[in-house]
Amino acid sequence: MNDFTFFSPTKFVFGRGVCDSTGTELAALGFSHALVVYGEGSVVRTGTLGRVLASLDAAGVAHTELSGVRPNPEVGLVRTGIEQARGCGADVILGVGGGSVIDTAKAISVGVPYDGDVWDLFSGLATPTAEGKPPIACVLTIPAAGSEASASCVLSNDELELKRGLSSELHRPVVAIMDPKLTFTLPAYQTAAGVTDMIAHIMERYFSSVGPVSVTDGIACGLIRSLIKEAPRALANPTDYDARANIMWAGTLAHNDLAGLGRSATPGGRAGGWESHALEHELSAHDARITHGAGLAVIFPAWMRYVWQEHPERFLSFGRDVFGIEPVDAEADGVDVSPEEAVRDAVLATVDELQGFFVSLGMPRTLGELGVSSEQIPALLETLEKNKGPVFGEFRRLTMEDARAIYESAL
Ligand code: NZQ
Ligand code: ZN
Repeated sequence: MNDFTFFSPTKFVFGRGVCDSTGTELAALGFSHALVVYGEGSVVRTGTLGRVLASLDAAGVAHTELSGVRPNPEVGLVRTGIEQARGCGADVILGVGGGSVIDTAKAISVGVPYDGDVWDLFSGLATPTAEGKPPIACVLTIPAAGSEASASCVLSNDELELKRGLSSELHRPVVAIMDPKLTFTLPAYQTAAGVTDMIAHIMERYFSSVGPVSVTDGIACGLIRSLIKEAPRALANPTDYDARANIMWAGTLAHNDLAGLGRSATPGGRAGGWESHALEHELSAHDARITHGAGLAVIFPAWMRYVWQEHPERFLSFGRDVFGIEPVDAEADGVDVSPEEAVRDAVLATVDELQGFFVSLGMPRTLGELGVSSEQIPALLETLEKNKGPVFGEFRRLTMEDARAIYESAL
């Protein structure tokens, strides 16, 4: 087990009706003016926004609204939000929505004290500072990205055709209001994409280059087993509270770093090389209509089939713990396969099983289903190299030729 530091400073307020206590939670932390950030209208239609604003009013917390965050959020609205937050003197940025909304809130928050253009922070030209930065709070309406507890913030810049992450401990929300009932209204596709994203967050950490850590591996595989059990229940019955609640909490634990402790190459660093996320972010950067989780459903299995030979034993433990898949024992089972063939068959069966699960939820199997064709691959590789350099990844170092092969294998 490698050394680690673990910092998950968020207060989680979880359960039925908790969105009505948003105001009291913020007032208890001493906040007096919230910039309330939300998306393209779901929170208005479902009544969630009205409940949150009423609770702010009741607790004496003033508020200013910023609406219109799109999925795969863009830096333009962040710039507007920074001006608004400065203008109204917001002392907390409250995201009401999912990863796109919370990431917009995070980017506004680090942008407020920064004099230059906020994109500088995503380009490595400047570093976020704590001084003058309003904290972030959120009311989560879609379990998926894990932004409610993560140190990540992912933003697109349409002009540059880039989508970039900015990791900082400053991004962790002070409070996350998590009411599973708010997720009853999610379309099946978003529920499925969310579950896929959570599983991907756990697997990016599981497939780091660091050896096994039984406690962490147990948490990781246990979370995935729960998601495999609960996701079909939520799809079959969208108002199944327990299924929704388990999925929501799993999404948080998938990405607050708990599921990677001791498996990071550097203490305090995140476990894993996040290869599939890097490959997927290019898809949703070039076409904002691609849902992040749906892109991962295609990319992750393709990456697994490409790299498994680097550490087959890691894939065998994953297959055993998640799906109960064991390599055949030629002698005991009386079959004519070599040990190498038995390992390969077990690994590929594991990847097939995982991909079959994603597809059973309604996720795509191929890039073609996402509207991505072979002609677009050079453009994906060009921005991938801008973001990650010529070689990236950890489980196996990947060149741009490797990335091309993975994209092509997923067509
Ligand atoms: O915009 P509205 O109208 O609110 O609709 C949203 C949106 O269309 C809808 N929705 C949300 N809650 C709903 C609902 N519809 C009905 N009922 C509800 N209760 O769902 C759609 C998707 O929302 P979005 O916030 O985009 O989803 P998600 O949470 O998956 O976030 C995706 C973004 O997060 C980034 C992704 O790259 C992508 O940009 N990520 C952020 C991470 C982080 N900050 O830690 C890590 C992830 O790996 C990921 O990269
Ligand atoms: Zn993700």
